[in-house]
Amino acid sequence: MEVVSGMQNEKVALFIIFGGSGDLARRKLYPSLFRLYQKGYLSRHFAVIGTARRPWENDYYRQIVVDSLNDIQATDEQIAEFAGHFYYQSHDVTNAAHYTVLKKLADTLDQKYQLQHNRIYYLAMSPNFFGTIAKHLKSEQILTTAGFNRLIIEKPFGHDYESAAELNQQIRASFEEDQIYRIDHYLGKEMVQNIAAIRFGNNIIESLWNNRYIDNIQITLSEALGVEERAGYYESAGAMRDMVQNHISQIATLLAMEPPVSFSARDIRHEKIKVLRSLHIDTPEEAQHNFVRGQYGPAVIDGQRLEGYREANNVASDSKTETYVAGKMEFENYRWAGVPFYVRTGKRLAKKETRVDIVYKQLPTNIFKAAQDDNKLGHNILTIFIEPTEGFSLRVNAKRLGQGFATRPVDLNFRHSAAATGNSPEAYERLLLDAMNGDSTNFTHWDELSQTWKFADVVEKVWSENTPTDFPNYASGSMGPKAADELLARDGRHWIFSAQPK
Ligand SMILES: NC(=O)c1ccc[n+]([C@@H]2O[C@H](COP(=O)([O-])OP(=O)(O)OC[C@H]3O[C@@H](n4cnc5c(N)ncnc54)[C@H](OP(=O)(O)O)[C@@H]3O)[C@@H](O)[C@H]2O)c1
Repeated sequence: MEVVSGMQNEKVALFIIFGGSGDLARRKLYPSLFRLYQKGYLSRHFAVIGTARRPWENDYYRQIVVDSLNDIQATDEQIAEFAGHFYYQSHDVTNAAHYTVLKKLADTLDQKYQLQHNRIYYLAMSPNFFGTIAKHLKSEQILTTAGFNRLIIEKPFGHDYESAAELNQQIRASFEEDQIYRIDHYLGKEMVQNIAAIRFGNNIIESLWNNRYIDNIQITLSEALGVEERAGYYESAGAMRDMVQNHISQIATLLAMEPPVSFSARDIRHEKIKVLRSLHIDTPEEAQHNFVRGQYGPAVIDGQRLEGYREANNVASDSKTETYVAGKMEFENYRWAGVPFYVRTGKRLAKKETRVDIVYKQLPTNIFKAAQDDNKLGHNILTIFIEPTEGFSLRVNAKRLGQGFATRPVDLNFRHSAAATGNSPEAYERLLLDAMNGDSTNFTHWDELSQTWKFADVVEKVWSENTPTDFPNYASGSMGPKAADELLARDGRHWIFSAQPK
């Protein structure tokens, strides 16, 4: 484990976590803060206030924090010392008077731990409350004038462009854009760095990274699980809002952007926003043609029955919500004109895997074909593996052993070892540290969100006006509906990644 030596890397801040009793706080935030503590980023000068309506005492809250660290190796002493920095404040975010009490506690802890008035507000609760919390933080003067104030907010950021813009306006009334950290936890998975390293660290890759050499790009976020306990939220969101508008669009943006002047958050953001402005917003007719949706039905795999989406708790028995999306994105600029970015994501698919397949154009002529009729050259394919393992592979054509000129595809493969991947920081750990450092590279800017909402809205509108008649249209454990294959077949292409259920 990396341990930061000395105190120079120690971060100084008060965390105020709204939704401190909730699932996200317990499963992700407390363990991540503890890992940062173990690594020395948090030491003496930090404190955490957890807030929620239930009337807990500090001791009870600290026990909740301790229980959340069950899976982490540490001494009892270390855990107790860490938990001692946690304070609970019963607080209804809609009650202005409660903020006065919160301010007092914040000021007291600021003095006690010498926190230099640095504050990080983490909104780990329903987005319906984001606006009111931001407003009260300012009006009740919890925002400090001497240190930094940073607001971390969870997804979903709006339900469509209009609601996202309204939410943004509410938050911007209290916080400047550079004080707002909108989480996209996919960006916390070393993704920016991964894609950047492959693209900008390799001449043979970056020099061919354009429409002269690339035929199409495929982004797959395939999930093996169903909606599980998130059905209530998912039913009103669907795969388009849950995955395409944010995570998939972010991956596409990182692949499509121009090389930044430097790796500073500002320069990367500049390029991301610029390329998103060239994202083609479909007309309703195009959206109908370019996107397909699906919903999983039940299946029996290895004698085990998997329930269909409509059988899940909190899901309507005639639900029209999509659990699968496949579609085509296009960037209208000099680098990418004519290169489709095919994207797909779905629940209950054959395998959990996040990857990007970059399919290169065929050579202008195939001399091997002339030599031997049945010997077709395959496309060169660069695959970037994002989850569950990280790495990449490059498919090239090589000569088969033996006489003649027959070729076969060979994959040059690199994967980080499971041990190395296991030691790399969790997405939330990385994001919390980034926010403490004031580094917004791995968070989304409003200009990015506004563009991807406009893109998703057209598809949502077309879908809302055309009720699907064939749901459920793919079986649990499959690779999605047939229409997704037909989408590419129409363009004379096929999905590179496919899997059988395990
Ligand atoms: N859980 C995850 O893994 C996950 C992953 C990605 C994104 N998210 C996002 O993270 C946010 C939180 O999710 P969650 O799963 O942690 O939700 P949750 O378990 O339902 O927690 C909600 C929290 O809000 C508090 N709360 C509700 N109404 C309140 C009020 N009026 N005043 C003060 N506190 C109030 C609740 O405590 P009281 O009832 O005691 O007030 C609870 O602590 C959501 O935006 C979600 O979309 C969660």
